[in-house]
Amino acid sequence: MSVAVRYLSKFGRTRRIAEAIAEGAGVQAFSIDDEPVLQEYVDVLFLGGAPYANVMDPKLRAYAESILPEKVGAVVLFTTSNWSRRTVVGLRRIFTAKNIPVANEYFYSHMTKINQNLEHAKDFGKRLVEDPR
Ligand SMILES: Cc1cc2nc3c(=O)[nH]c(=O)nc-3n(C[C@H](O)[C@H](O)[C@H](O)COP(=O)(O)O)c2cc1C
Repeated sequence: MSVAVRYLSKFGRTRRIAEAIAEGAGVQAFSIDDEPVLQEYVDVLFLGGAPYANVMDPKLRAYAESILPEKVGAVVLFTTSNWSRRTVVGLRRIFTAKNIPVANEYFYSHMTKINQNLEHAKDFGKRLVEDPR
């Protein structure tokens, strides 16, 4: 089974959650800045980001929009923020429009609770990689 964890993180909070999810899933997390396009097919893509001034970062949006349905089996989303879950809502909308399955469950961490949520994120990665629904 092939798994990828990708994120966009300006200040490092989402990166830390991505790394914990990746640890649970048994892979390495990469910023979309470092690997802008998915090179190979993946069964499960964990993808996350954060809202800035009420919008999803355009780079994350462009990344999601560039993913072809034949490149991904299922997507699992995660986000960190002060209050908003709009990143998850927006990404889900993009993938659903392409008929790419998105897990109902997603991971959320408040921006001030990253440390407390690292173990939860690791468990999430371990669990969802086996059952991305
Ligand atoms: C300029 C700026 C704008 C933000 N706007 C929002 C927002 O509209 N809604 C929200 O819930 N959080 C907002 N936040 C909080 C970030 O989404 C939150 O700190 C997040 O964890 C940042 O992720 P990162 O550290 O991976 O970049 C904002 C933070 C900054 C610095």
